[in-house]
Amino acid sequence: MIKKKKASEIEKMRVAGAVVGNCLRELAAWIEPGKTTTLEMDKKADELVRSYGAIPSFKNYNGYPNSVCIAVNEEVVHGIPGGRVLMPGDVVGIDLGAIVDGWHGDSAITVLVDDCGSNEARKLLQVTRDALYKGIEQARPGKRLSDIGHAVQEYVEDAGFSVVRDLVGHGIGRNMHEDPYVPNYGRPGKGIRLEEGMVLAIEPMVNIGGYEVETLADGWTVVTADGSLSAHFEHTVAIRRDGPDILTLPKSKEA
Ligand code: MF3
Ligand code: CO
Repeated sequence: MIKKKKASEIEKMRVAGAVVGNCLRELAAWIEPGKTTTLEMDKKADELVRSYGAIPSFKNYNGYPNSVCIAVNEEVVHGIPGGRVLMPGDVVGIDLGAIVDGWHGDSAITVLVDDCGSNEARKLLQVTRDALYKGIEQARPGKRLSDIGHAVQEYVEDAGFSVVRDLVGHGIGRNMHEDPYVPNYGRPGKGIRLEEGMVLAIEPMVNIGGYEVETLADGWTVVTADGSLSAHFEHTVAIRRDGPDILTLPKSKEA
């Protein structure tokens, strides 16, 4: 069942979303190349989220042990923080969720450590971010659910990369994961009709090589099957009468 949100509820989700947006930006800027470990990122993420009076939503979710997911290079998503040191040129996905007043925000970015790396890695990040916005553009009343995934897939494949099939975006609200699933691929014009008040987490995962992925023995970390680099961007997006409304944009801390 898809739970549509009232305007007042969307504003509450925007508060949670802004916490996530701000924390992601602060976390990325906090990385010291060649020094920071992914476990230190987790501690910092947990502290940052709580400093806003919010609760990190991933911690203990289905047994997930940490407050943030860090996916490095060939890791796609759900990387568990540990002792790995982030090195210049690493492709680092940072996925974070927070709860404020019972409402969820969920967003992810991918960054290049020390802002250096191969041209291919740079292109991967740009294509994945742009693909997210292609999907977001479809999140408006009258469109159908698969129009989102179709727009993402077409953009990514035109750029020569592939879209992960095994993991999808999702509805979000008082729960992190609600109906419907939001695939990043598919034919246009299929699935439910999008309506005002639906809120979706749209989250393309893009691989330089094939779309196939595997899960490591830790039960969480998803990696590309061929070892190619992967990137992930995510926003929580409300469908409004006028079109998409991104709820996970950063906002300055004043008042
Ligand atoms: N952004 C991820 C998702 O939408 C976060 C879930 S990670 C988990 O599925 F650890 F919390 F499961
Ligand atoms: Co999500």
